[in-house]
Amino acid sequence: MKRRSFTTLALAATVALGAQPALAQDNVFKIGLILPMTGQQATTGRQIEAAARLWMAQNGDTVAGKKVQLIVKDDTSLPDVTRRLAQELVVNDKVNVLAGFGITPSAMAVAPIATQSKTPMVVMAAATSSITEASPYIVRTSFTLPQASVALGDWAPKNGLKRVVTLVSDYGPGIDAERFFRERLLLNGGQVPESLRVPLRNPDFAPFLQKVRDIKPDALFVFVPSGAGAAVMKQFLERGMDKAGIKLIGTGDVTDDDQLNDMGDGAIGVVTSHHYSTYHPSAMNKKFVADFGKANKGMRPNFMAVGGYDGMRVIYDALKASKGQGGGDGLLAAMKGQIFESPRGKIFIDAQTRDIVQNIYLRRVERKEGQLWNVEFDVIKDVKDPGKAR
Ligand code: DHB
Repeated sequence: MKRRSFTTLALAATVALGAQPALAQDNVFKIGLILPMTGQQATTGRQIEAAARLWMAQNGDTVAGKKVQLIVKDDTSLPDVTRRLAQELVVNDKVNVLAGFGITPSAMAVAPIATQSKTPMVVMAAATSSITEASPYIVRTSFTLPQASVALGDWAPKNGLKRVVTLVSDYGPGIDAERFFRERLLLNGGQVPESLRVPLRNPDFAPFLQKVRDIKPDALFVFVPSGAGAAVMKQFLERGMDKAGIKLIGTGDVTDDDQLNDMGDGAIGVVTSHHYSTYHPSAMNKKFVADFGKANKGMRPNFMAVGGYDGMRVIYDALKASKGQGGGDGLLAAMKGQIFESPRGKIFIDAQTRDIVQNIYLRRVERKEGQLWNVEFDVIKDVKDPGKAR
């Protein structure tokens, strides 16, 4: 009798002291997902949030006995805002993982916070090669520009495109694309008569395209971030560059599946290299595209969505494998070396570099079943980031 009343008392005291809610808190696993939900990169945020929510709808929100909570924050693609949000998520919300990162400067701004707080940081979008070297806590599920660009540097000269002007957004991923495409093209006997860089914010492509028209190369190689491709395509066609015999090629960011279907038949024939096409003909991808469309009013998942979807899988699998033990370091260790089939094909998180190894596909825009798609016609298997081998 005495003993029971002691137990009851102890329990009451525990509850009164707030230990009960603390215990509940321990059973929550928080993912701080920082994305550009508004502004120039808003499509990236919309795609990745939709993909993360689809992953959770398909796989539940309880993993290794913990309740997974997704906290989405809009950084408007301004790196100072990304940094502040990451700080708040780590210090106030005590998130277990940071994720998202729509552009390279945002990912770079958060890298020191990940290192100091030992919080794994899953980069789902940004794609400059050097990002993974900015913190040992970074794991990437998107791609790198060197990875995507090298394939075109091999393809172009073999297909009659020897003189190629490059046009890239003037920041990390653009500079990577320019450099790795150019080096590979030169190695294959090609030439780059001009390398043009346009500002990331509010670019006006017209004067640059005029210059390209005057040079009259065999092709124009383009990198612009997700969301800017349609503007490039429109101005390229309006200036009659295609009719002047200049082929448009680029990384798949320019024929972004988020916008491609609205670009019109002028886009048909454009060749790009990339890691994901909505049209990728695997059973897993067909289900991914159908489920994503069903949950989002028919929206097509683009390469950003697949980075978000696979990033969630990497987090879930790491949580399962580490059984929620070991904190950030345990989680990070369980992310390294993961290998699985993604809607894009087989992928691998290189344990040494924490970067993604994946297939790169050559694709041509075609109209099929009444819609425009990036139709894959060749594949380079298991491509490591060429930016790391130097
Ligand atoms: C980056 C952003 C993009 O939208 C993209 O398509 C590729 C790279 C970046 O900032 O790293």
